[in-house]
Amino acid sequence: MDERLIQRAAAVLEQEFGSDWLTIAQQLGTENLRQRVGKELTSFMAFPERGNGGDNRWRGNCSPEVVVSVLRYVLDTKRYYGKNTSDFVLLDPMSGSGTSKAAADALGIQSVLYDLNPAPAAGLGGWNALKNDVEHSADLIFFHPPYHNIIQYSGNMWGKPHPDDLSRCENYNDFLEKLNLCIRKLYMALRKDGRLAVLVGDIRSQGKFYSIQHDMMRMGDFESFLVKGQFNCVSDSRRYAKPFIPIVTEYLLLLHKKDILMIPYHYAKENYFSIEDTDLTALTWHHLIRMTFESRGGQMTLAELYVCLASHPKSKKNTHFRERIRATIYEHKDQYISCGNGSYRLSYQVA
Ligand SMILES: C[S@@+](CC[C@H](N)C(=O)[O-])C[C@H]1O[C@@H](n2cnc3c(N)ncnc32)[C@H](O)[C@@H]1O
Repeated sequence: MDERLIQRAAAVLEQEFGSDWLTIAQQLGTENLRQRVGKELTSFMAFPERGNGGDNRWRGNCSPEVVVSVLRYVLDTKRYYGKNTSDFVLLDPMSGSGTSKAAADALGIQSVLYDLNPAPAAGLGGWNALKNDVEHSADLIFFHPPYHNIIQYSGNMWGKPHPDDLSRCENYNDFLEKLNLCIRKLYMALRKDGRLAVLVGDIRSQGKFYSIQHDMMRMGDFESFLVKGQFNCVSDSRRYAKPFIPIVTEYLLLLHKKDILMIPYHYAKENYFSIEDTDLTALTWHHLIRMTFESRGGQMTLAELYVCLASHPKSKKNTHFRERIRATIYEHKDQYISCGNGSYRLSYQVA
């Protein structure tokens, strides 16, 4: 659409609705997506208008609409399958500004809230997810942990720095281990047919991207993965010189406890291997030669290439590996450009 037309529309909306205009436009823009197939809850959530409940000044708070939507879905599902919801309990173990209580109250549902903060807005304070037990059982646990150290809670939003505050972990791996312990503990506290909803965001720390939703462990049946648009973040107003992809979404993972005794789980595992001493079906001679060129700046003689690759597992399996290397270079003449004297360079500059 014509950029000038959009600017004109924005100006007209601003004139008509003042500072609310952007929220109204965002609401309109996502309405269609949210209402698709007639459901409030779809795999994309957007609540530009935060709604009432909890505290929008509590950094890292979430919209009560998120909790209400999930709660409504879980209640509807239970009712659909003829299950009793009269003693339904919503538990929020890291309840921050008390958003979950407001959401549960709005639907007339019992809620139990904990937080490490000794004086939280609602529920039990001084409850430590790493040390204390989850004494209650619940049908839905809404778990919204800190996103590693992006916002620090103890010593900042409340009290003194606390060593078990998940926003004060030593490093990302320490955070993940503690987060995974919480996931295991909370899953155990679910009742049969219960659900654990984990709301997490990806982060960028010192230029490195970490995907919490990808790295954290999952337990139970992976029922859904919902993407949520982020609105009104402090980082929205910052300007950065280096190009990078801004994070404008967070994720809600819905884990279902279908079976009581058998527990499916999933761990993401990160590992490395070196091309120099590994053979794989996916690694052709051409890939291996091209990567060897890249690792040497893009130009090599055949003699150098033979020396480099002589001890590679591919060469060990092929007594005629030199002939194979020459044939591969010949078969890809357009990619290995001859410079004379048995020297070749790649057809592109190595970054
Ligand atoms: C992202 S905030 C939750 C925000 C909340 N959903 C809201 O809308 O206000 C995370 C909360 O986790 C709490 N927390 C951090 N470490 C904890 C721990 N070990 N045990 C319990 N709560 C913890 C913090 O005090 C903070 O209130």
